[in-house]
Amino acid sequence: MLSTSSVFSLFLLILLSSSSAKPPSSKQNSFIQCLSYHSEASIPFSSTFFTPNSSAFTTVLNSTAQNLRCLIPSEPKPEFIFTPTDDSQVQNAVICSKQLGIHLRVRSGGHDYEGLSYVSQIETPFIVVDLAKLRSVNVDIQGNNAWIQAGATIGEVYYRIAEKSRTHGFPAGLCTSLGVGGHITGGAYGTMMRKYGLAADNVLDARIVDVKGRILDRKTMGEDLFWAIRGGGGASFGIILWWKIKLVPVPSTVTVFTVSKTLEQGATKLLHRWQQVAATKLDKDLNIRVMIQPTVVDSKSGKRTVTTLYQGQFLGGVKRLLNVMQTGFPELNLTRKDCTQTSWLKSVMYIAGYANGTQPEVLLQGKPTFKSYFKAKSDFVKDPIPETGLEGLWKRLLEETAPLIIWNPYGGVMSKISESALPFPHRNVLFKIQYLTTWQAANENEAKHINWIRKLYNYMAPYVTKSPRQAYVNYRDLDLGINKQKNTSITEASAWGNRYFKGNFYRLIKIKTKVDPHNFFRHEQSIPPLALQARRTRN
Ligand SMILES: Cc1cc2nc3c(=O)[nH]c(=O)nc-3n(C[C@H](O)[C@H](O)[C@H](O)COP(=O)(O)OP(=O)(O)OC[C@H]3O[C@@H](n4cnc5c(N)ncnc54)[C@H](O)[C@@H]3O)c2cc1C
Ligand SMILES: *[C@@H]1O[C@H](CO)[C@@H](O)[C@H](O)[C@H]1NC(C)=O
Ligand SMILES: *[C@@H]1O[C@H](CO)[C@@H](O)[C@H](O)[C@H]1NC(C)=O
Ligand SMILES: *[C@@H]1O[C@H](CO)[C@@H](O)[C@H](O)[C@H]1NC(C)=O
Ligand SMILES: *[C@@H]1O[C@H](CO)[C@@H](O)[C@H](O)[C@H]1NC(C)=O
Ligand SMILES: *[C@@H]1O[C@H](CO)[C@@H](O)[C@H](O)[C@H]1NC(C)=O
Repeated sequence: MLSTSSVFSLFLLILLSSSSAKPPSSKQNSFIQCLSYHSEASIPFSSTFFTPNSSAFTTVLNSTAQNLRCLIPSEPKPEFIFTPTDDSQVQNAVICSKQLGIHLRVRSGGHDYEGLSYVSQIETPFIVVDLAKLRSVNVDIQGNNAWIQAGATIGEVYYRIAEKSRTHGFPAGLCTSLGVGGHITGGAYGTMMRKYGLAADNVLDARIVDVKGRILDRKTMGEDLFWAIRGGGGASFGIILWWKIKLVPVPSTVTVFTVSKTLEQGATKLLHRWQQVAATKLDKDLNIRVMIQPTVVDSKSGKRTVTTLYQGQFLGGVKRLLNVMQTGFPELNLTRKDCTQTSWLKSVMYIAGYANGTQPEVLLQGKPTFKSYFKAKSDFVKDPIPETGLEGLWKRLLEETAPLIIWNPYGGVMSKISESALPFPHRNVLFKIQYLTTWQAANENEAKHINWIRKLYNYMAPYVTKSPRQAYVNYRDLDLGINKQKNTSITEASAWGNRYFKGNFYRLIKIKTKVDPHNFFRHEQSIPPLALQARRTRN
């Protein structure tokens, strides 16, 4: 039996030896031929190239796909998946896709809320370039920085930093299986955001593959493009290969806690208070997020209530924390016994939901920590939501099977950074809301859950930012609008663009027009270039 790779070699040989007669060749064969042509070393195709008829295809496709809703059989599937093993193969993948007119999607950690890194709703065929094999993390404690490769998870980054120092950290996402390639392109917040800002605020340099297949760094790409990739959303400007990040100091002792309050225990008043203090009154070493969901109070009758979970991370010891809480938020009644002092890395694992005692090496597995079928949306809030507003929210939550709402406080340095410093414009808000509804089986009524979350979103409109109603690009929501065509108009794209980027949207469009005028890097919500027509009129 011939192995897959020798079949490919044979095929290549035939192609190369018969330059005049053009044999019928499928997209994948042309792609392989093109890659081989451009590569100095030979590529092990049998382990880097997966077509739907190979048994490993679904395993590879599923591997990091976090939202099971995007994997159901009716969702479009890629023609093939290519998993490059070095930077030059990513360059060649861009060159060959462009040359052959193949629509390309790029995946790092696979956590996109709408599966945009491995599903295209708007164009078939398409292929996936999956960067999972490109996951080096090189930490330089002396230099206070690290070069991290796009396919690494943020958990691997945290682990590799902590391995070298207990007093260095990095302010990125809470979920440890996020891929740094997609995550940082959207801004990337975490529990240290009030002290150090977003991950994107702490990027020093990057290496990207542009539409011409060149590798550019900060100097060669220029400050405009370097601005755009730090918050302008994934897959609009090029493929990130590496980020150079700045490490931040963390104390050797960090304190974490979780306190829960049900409606019966006064959750409504307490949450009203939290809105007044969490962003504006509390020390920036302290981050208290609130997770809100229905819980069963009486298993016999199935009666449910709403539980609010206050989960905190404090960059310091318990003694100072209790002082901070006494002054800023005494209503929570936080006590010493609610608190655990630990290392920064363990505090990250605590917040990420790992059971106490889990070995940190679990972070090196690089797999999604939990998978489910879900739909999510986001909002930003500038004025506390009154108690009557909260009561309407409880009513709606109790109508849904497995919803979850998460409130993240802003304030601290977030409000000191200008809205245009990066494409991420949500700087002057009290907090962000994330709404989620999850279900467990493919055959459950998806439409019912999606309808529920859309109605909830309508209900919340009076309480959140307006004109535009802001949304977080890393919480992709195709309900806000999609690019229906490659040549989508700016007006059409503004429906979602203004919400994600506010006044920065137009600068993103101008940069896109300069670096990718023919819109090679595109998806349902990629930044559109100005149409040739419009460009002529404007210039
Ligand atoms: C469980 C869960 C928890 C989350 N928690 C947080 C959180 O705490 N903080 C936060 O800020 N966000 C959070 N997010 C959102 C997360 O930041 C985004 O989903 C992010 O885009 C994921 O990046 P990824 O590489 O894992 O995803 P992918 O699905 O691989 O990519 C996301 C997007 O970026 C593009 N992309 C991927 N790799 C590259 C690359 N190398 N170059 C250019 N474009 C690329 C993709 O094509 C796609 O459009 C969470 C998401 C989930 C599912
Ligand atoms: C898989 O199918 C493609 C055509 O869709 C074909 O070119 C390729 O040779 C097949 N591969 C294997 C391993 O059968
Ligand atoms: C991939 O995921 C889909 C959807 O959850 C599932 O039906 C299928 O069995 C999975 N396949 C593999 C090989 O994991
Ligand atoms: C905090 O403690 C006070 C005094 O014991 C009590 O009145 C109040 O209800 C408590 N608050 C919460 C939210 O539990
Ligand atoms: C984890 O377990 C250790 C040892 O039993 C205990 O001291 C610590 O408080 C626990 N941490 C948390 C967060 O519960
Ligand atoms: C986009 O292209 C299609 C055909 O490819 C054309 O019909 C349509 O008018 C174009 N739209 C815009 C906004 O240019």
